[in-house]
Amino acid sequence: MSSRPKVFISRMIPQVGLDMVAEVAEMDVWPEQMPPAKSVIMERIADCEGLLSLLTDEVDGALMDAAPKLKVVSNYAVGFNNIDVDAATARGVLVGNTPGVLTGTTADLAWSLLMSIARRIVEGDKYVRARQWKTWEPQLLLGSDVYEATIGIIGFGRIGQAMARRAAGFDMRIVYTDIERNVEAEKETGAEFMQLDDLLRASDFVTIHTLLNDDTFHLIGAREFELMGPDSYLINSSRGPVVDETALYEALKNETIRGAALDVTEEEPIPDDSPLLELDNVVIVPHIGSASRQTRNKMARMAAANLIAGITGEPLPNCVNPEAAS
Ligand code: DGY
Repeated sequence: MSSRPKVFISRMIPQVGLDMVAEVAEMDVWPEQMPPAKSVIMERIADCEGLLSLLTDEVDGALMDAAPKLKVVSNYAVGFNNIDVDAATARGVLVGNTPGVLTGTTADLAWSLLMSIARRIVEGDKYVRARQWKTWEPQLLLGSDVYEATIGIIGFGRIGQAMARRAAGFDMRIVYTDIERNVEAEKETGAEFMQLDDLLRASDFVTIHTLLNDDTFHLIGAREFELMGPDSYLINSSRGPVVDETALYEALKNETIRGAALDVTEEEPIPDDSPLLELDNVVIVPHIGSASRQTRNKMARMAAANLIAGITGEPLPNCVNPEAAS
């Protein structure tokens, strides 16, 4: 019988991470495209010391109680709203995440979304493929200028600041809001701090880079769209529930705002019957913010390193609840 610690990995992460884990643990990797049901995870982790989870796995107290030997939950994401961290801490289970390595990649995607909706790239592509392109036209697919416009960044952490650096290259006015001012980052990026309502009024492009928690759930809804106004755009690459999607649909349909571009939706995948899918003034991609080959490999290494540290009793390189160790 093997004396190596057992771990469950809830999906096929890049091989580089699996190879690292295989050196120290006996691993059980869920092989399918769709995530394992919670009940299946509970069965599979019964004698595991480590769980490598994805943002599609709900890791709560009941799930952790199914694994009495559990020492660590290593999330293959920077966000960890899928994990009940308080419940983990109460059980002495460390929680790891993958910050930093996906900052540039996620900001690149958010920037592409901003450009796509402002310059109607997706509509243009559909138009060409539908064989509708007959001639050069003065009024065809007119969009909005990005350069010298005002960008409002909600959440001025690593990814928010990376957006500010991209915006500076487009000569934009940069405003931001967060729980508190970050004077250092202001100096580095030239961004101005504003309260949320002022930011919404001032911005042509509002881009969300905040965590999802009780304070940010439906942070942007009908009232906020009214403040943004008819020439403005919303970009969300954080978590879907930060935006009230019913209100977003109304705002897009009634042209309360001009457009939106989303990497995340309230329910993922977005339901087939979502009315948003009927609108031309919204671009939606399937939560691919960190989806570059290079970054997913880095995330795999980092998630593996957190998992290994947790099962071998070392401090996690990236831990969201270090107090769980005491
Ligand atoms: C994260 O890491 O939280 C992203 O949403 C997926 O990479």
